Amino acid sequence: MVLMNNKAYILEGIWKAYRSGDSVLYALKNVNLVVYRGEFVSIMGPSGSGKSTLLSIMGLLTKPTRGRMKLFSYDASDLSDRKATELRRKTIGFIFQTFNLIPWLTALENVEIAMAIGGCDLTKRRERARELLVTLGLGERLDHRPTQLSGGEQQRVAIARALANDPEIILADEPTGNLSTTQGEMIVDILRSLTDQNRTVVMATHDPRMAEKSDRIVRLRDGAVASS
Ligand SMILES: Nc1ncnc2c1ncn2[C@@H]1O[C@H](COP(=O)(O)OP(=O)(O)OP(=O)(O)O)[C@@H](O)[C@H]1O
Ligand SMILES: [Mg+2]
Repeated sequence: MVLMNNKAYILEGIWKAYRSGDSVLYALKNVNLVVYRGEFVSIMGPSGSGKSTLLSIMGLLTKPTRGRMKLFSYDASDLSDRKATELRRKTIGFIFQTFNLIPWLTALENVEIAMAIGGCDLTKRRERARELLVTLGLGERLDHRPTQLSGGEQQRVAIARALANDPEIILADEPTGNLSTTQGEMIVDILRSLTDQNRTVVMATHDPRMAEKSDRIVRLRDGAVASS
């Protein structure tokens, strides 16, 4: 029998320092955190408390200054950049606070391109991208480029892109920040439903109504975990 590891993340003593000139700013201070597989965790805290920095470390986009992080069975602290990129592509869907859509591609192409990296064929990619965008209420916007979309629509394209490869882990940085309450609830319900398939979701949010729908709230204050 194979013993399944039930933890998606183990963070131990994570620090992140940013240097500017002579001064050092600690964006994260000794963060310890366990996230279980299939869990939906919200990260809350004032602006500047380190939410995006924490997600970016969990997404293997930023290296901590100090500390260790395990992602499934991998010791993420020891991975080379190439291995980290590979692991990220295979397991993580990241929804950025600032969307990061490719400006010259349409909504449909922005979602498709995430799957091109995963090596699935064009017809399948197009079909899946269309399906995701329709589910997110963008069926009439498939051929619009980011500048021809509202903030909320761009956000939904970014969400579709993050889900395109059906990742094990979804990291969402304020995914409802630009949406109406109804749209926001729809997105959170979609994120919630992913955990039914044992997917793990970590979401930074300012909105207590959205956080309420998660299993657990981790509160950051000034770079440290105030409660979890
Ligand atoms: N690349 C960087 N260089 C220097 N300082 C940074 C950098 N990125 C973030 N910081 C600083 O680290 C702190 C934490 O930033 P972070 O973006 O993680 O906060 P946040 O909780 O996501 O805030 P918000 O709610 O406004 O999105 C802030 O004080 C910020 O100014
Ligand atoms: Mg942020």
